[in-house]
Amino acid sequence: MAASRPGDVTSSAVAGHPLAPVPYVVRAVATETPDTTTLTLEPRATKRIPRSRPGQFNMLYVFAVGEAAISISGGNPDGQLIHTVRTTGKVTSALTRLTPGDTVGVRGPYGHGWPVADSKGRDLVIVAGGLGLPPLRPALYEVFRNRESYGRVEIIDGARSPKDLVFYDEVQGWRRRTDLRVQVTVDAAGKDWYGDVGVVTTRIPDARFEPERTTAFICGPEIMMKLTAQALVARKVSPDAIWISMERNMKCAIGFCGHCQYGPSFVCRDGPVMRYSTLEPLLNLKEV
Ligand SMILES: Cc1cc2nc3c(=O)[nH]c(=O)nc-3n(C[C@H](O)[C@H](O)[C@H](O)COP(=O)(O)OP(=O)(O)OC[C@H]3O[C@@H](n4cnc5c(N)ncnc54)[C@H](O)[C@@H]3O)c2cc1C
Ligand code: FES
Repeated sequence: MAASRPGDVTSSAVAGHPLAPVPYVVRAVATETPDTTTLTLEPRATKRIPRSRPGQFNMLYVFAVGEAAISISGGNPDGQLIHTVRTTGKVTSALTRLTPGDTVGVRGPYGHGWPVADSKGRDLVIVAGGLGLPPLRPALYEVFRNRESYGRVEIIDGARSPKDLVFYDEVQGWRRRTDLRVQVTVDAAGKDWYGDVGVVTTRIPDARFEPERTTAFICGPEIMMKLTAQALVARKVSPDAIWISMERNMKCAIGFCGHCQYGPSFVCRDGPVMRYSTLEPLLNLKEV
């Protein structure tokens, strides 16, 4: 069993068999980018999964297709579930093709989330790469609800191109707030983009925070998370205060099957959010 640590959430899936999915109905479908869709789900009957914490994920089951791990990307008012899915393969394609009224199976929530409450009193640097923003969004909502409990809040959001930026309008709204600083950057853009161009790490030197009192949450492609963590360490942020969300192929999601093994850890049971200080030696290996 993993040792307890800030942000821990231990949740059984649902009453009864831990792998039994609960039927949810698709209430709304929103297109975020050409290959990314946000689904709003509601319980089909009275049975529902337990409330989630920011950074946790659910297993979404499309009947006759299969199951995929998908992070919770929004708050859950009235037991609704918000999930943002990018088409990658079989299951995610089926999820992005769902329409209102369709049914999906849901089990979860699983995993350890972001240590949002344990970071009170500290500066926060939140760095998202591409589809890394959806798993961070519930953490940001919790920070916004308790804004006075945190020091500086710096958000860096990056994507391959402007059309790959998810929640673009919402992020523009955050940019108008005076109690946060939001930097948005893309790897490459045409002449119609007036914002920053460059990978997210290029924005770290300009980020405003006090290193010794800073906690960082990073989510995105593995190489982006590794380089971002290194850039923060170069600015004297402690590797113990840097948290990253790992992704591995999931099957059971409850620590039984070993599919998600990463070094000595199972990402479903010991993650997905883990300390950079624990992951650093593994991230530097070619194959784990
Ligand atoms: C904790 C966690 C949270 C996640 N959150 C989200 C989310 O919010 N939105 C979202 O769109 N996706 C998310 N994913 C990724 C998603 O689970 C995979 O893309 C999905 O399982 C792929 O299934 P598929 O049947 O569509 O693709 P497949 O047909 O199974 O595979 C397509 C390709 O993707 C690779 N692949 C499959 N799963 C993963 C994985 N987990 N990591 C890296 N490569 C993989 C396969 O090896 C293959 O090359 C998350 C994964 C994890 C572990
Ligand atoms: S998915 Fe089975 S042990 Fe993690």
